[in-house]
Amino acid sequence: MRIDVITIFPEFFQVLDVSLLGKARQAALVQTHVHQLREWAATKADGTPDPHRTVDDAPFGGGAGMVMKPDVWGKALDDVLQDGGVLVIPSPAGVRFTQALAAELSSAPQLVFACGRYEGIDARVAEHYAQQGVRVLEVSLGDYVLNGGEVAAFAMIEAVTRLIPGFMGNAESIVEESHSDGLLEYPSYTRPASWRGLDVPDVLLSGHHGKVAQWRAEQQLSRTRERRPDLLPPDAGGGLDA
Ligand code: ADE
Repeated sequence: MRIDVITIFPEFFQVLDVSLLGKARQAALVQTHVHQLREWAATKADGTPDPHRTVDDAPFGGGAGMVMKPDVWGKALDDVLQDGGVLVIPSPAGVRFTQALAAELSSAPQLVFACGRYEGIDARVAEHYAQQGVRVLEVSLGDYVLNGGEVAAFAMIEAVTRLIPGFMGNAESIVEESHSDGLLEYPSYTRPASWRGLDVPDVLLSGHHGKVAQWRAEQQLSRTRERRPDLLPPDAGGGLDA
């Protein structure tokens, strides 16, 4: 998979090298390319030079903040998007990022993350590329507002790349983790069996695989019911009002 990130803060992505993702890059499973958006801001929309390399302007209709310019983004994306590439625009107004979406994106040949700042990117950018047949996804990490798309893009990159076949050493740990089956993961324990007066549940020391599996399934359900009832169907005690 090829991952391109376009941002006015490329420094944010230096940690790509040191995270788990560094291993995938070394194994050539992922190639990441981080681009400075201002590289495409050397000339204005009318073709005259822009020594300030401006990437934003005031919103039509008034209001607070600045909007990122479509002409600059258009030049950048024309250069960076490849055939089959998916354009991901992190935005608090996007669809919710989920494990299912991460799994879906892990088979794309290219992901291009367009990181907006300020009040976001001119809405015509998403519209234009969708009209060109590009798969365009505006995606939110959660119901809170970050200062820009960089942190959200980083989280999505990590969630997606660890699902690429061959990336994780232990494929089972992906199958059993939270959200892979729509439920939260069961609690885990290691030695010592007794610590500060707290004992590991007896069943986990029993060596009885069937009972362990049953206990873990119950824990998944009770944890999910307690912490994330929105993930459960109403007949399993879920729903938003549970
Ligand atoms: N940009 C700002 N806030 C965001 C969020 N919650 N998710 C994705 N991108 C964002």
